[in-house]
Amino acid sequence: MGYEEMWRDLLPIGRVSGGGHRRFSWTPADRECRAWFAEEAGRRGLTVEEDRNGNLFAWWDVPGERRDAVLTGSHLDSVPDGGAFDGPLGVVSSLAAIDLLRERGVTPARPLGVAVFAEEEGARFGVACLGSRLLTGAIDPVRARGLRDGDGVTWADAMAADGHDPEAIGPDPDLLAGIGCFVELHVEQGRALDVPVGVASAIWPHGRWRFDFTGQGNHAGTTLLRDRHDPMLPFAQTVLAARDAAARHEAVATMGKVHVTPNGVNAIPSIVRAWLDTRAPDDAAVRATVAEIRAAAEKAAGEHGVAVALAEESYTQVVDFHPDLRDRLATTLGGAPVLPTGAGHDAGILSAHVPTAMLFVRNPTGVSHAPEEHAETGDCLTGVEALATALEDLLTS
Ligand code: GLV
Ligand code: MN
Ligand code: MN
Repeated sequence: MGYEEMWRDLLPIGRVSGGGHRRFSWTPADRECRAWFAEEAGRRGLTVEEDRNGNLFAWWDVPGERRDAVLTGSHLDSVPDGGAFDGPLGVVSSLAAIDLLRERGVTPARPLGVAVFAEEEGARFGVACLGSRLLTGAIDPVRARGLRDGDGVTWADAMAADGHDPEAIGPDPDLLAGIGCFVELHVEQGRALDVPVGVASAIWPHGRWRFDFTGQGNHAGTTLLRDRHDPMLPFAQTVLAARDAAARHEAVATMGKVHVTPNGVNAIPSIVRAWLDTRAPDDAAVRATVAEIRAAAEKAAGEHGVAVALAEESYTQVVDFHPDLRDRLATTLGGAPVLPTGAGHDAGILSAHVPTAMLFVRNPTGVSHAPEEHAETGDCLTGVEALATALEDLLTS
């Protein structure tokens, strides 16, 4: 299928009425996305393989062993009500770039792989880039097996229910050893790019923390204000403190997910569980921001007779992409701009093991992780050309 047809088939998968996508790991929408990828890769004569961690790879092999491969690709899972481009743009563009390389008559001297990494968003099981973390050994497989979704289903059970073996997950040094470099194309997720294509310099350090505020559930009509231990109040103060602390440290902090127990309109909650996402250009700023938010949460909880516990669910250090590969891409693309990002990517995880680079395609709305995320077709096609040119350079030298 050509570029337009690939999008035509992929876009309806997991699309919800508001226009966004819900493509959570090991759900029917995820299965459909995987099937779509296998079909498109098969159509191109690529060899499709799934690794032990649920990551898919489509290979354009060369004679001999699969070593020093050039890897591209991205992910197909989404955040709740996510945009169409975050992840899929990289996968569609990789397949389209292969078509272009073949049209150009390129004969690769190294294997080329297109990856679809599992659970990149961490939308269902909480840890972003789970597939690439497992592959590279950045997360303990025992911990990964036990990660739970909002309904209490574990990664292991969800994987098994979808026909995969959760006992087999974990680092895959052999697969990793065959990869020579990784180039991920991705939609740019803010307002940082004013030309069609740019090259990534770095990913800000970022992490996720969980707050559990535990108070006393009670009646909304009969419990006097002075008798309450309402966990919603310190939670609310923590949200405001997060904004203030982020501003003080030139960081960003977001509390976008909250579970209230029992979630009744006429009941004071007993527990408020809320997640904090914090990012900044450097590690010290992230740590200082989180420390201030924690102190504010503890103070507010104390004032309301509420207990609070904080757990770090994931942390990713700053990523500086491979300078030679970054410069080589920027030069090959005729001096493309080089810019950092506050968004996390599998490329960030892989970069600790193989030379890694990223290409960004302009996003005129500046919106991402929401249905309004957008990229113009002309810019996307420029992205495909750029990716093909970068891959050609890497495959033939
Ligand atoms: C992934 O897109 C993230 O930055 O959270
Ligand atoms: Mn994302
Ligand atoms: Mn993404």
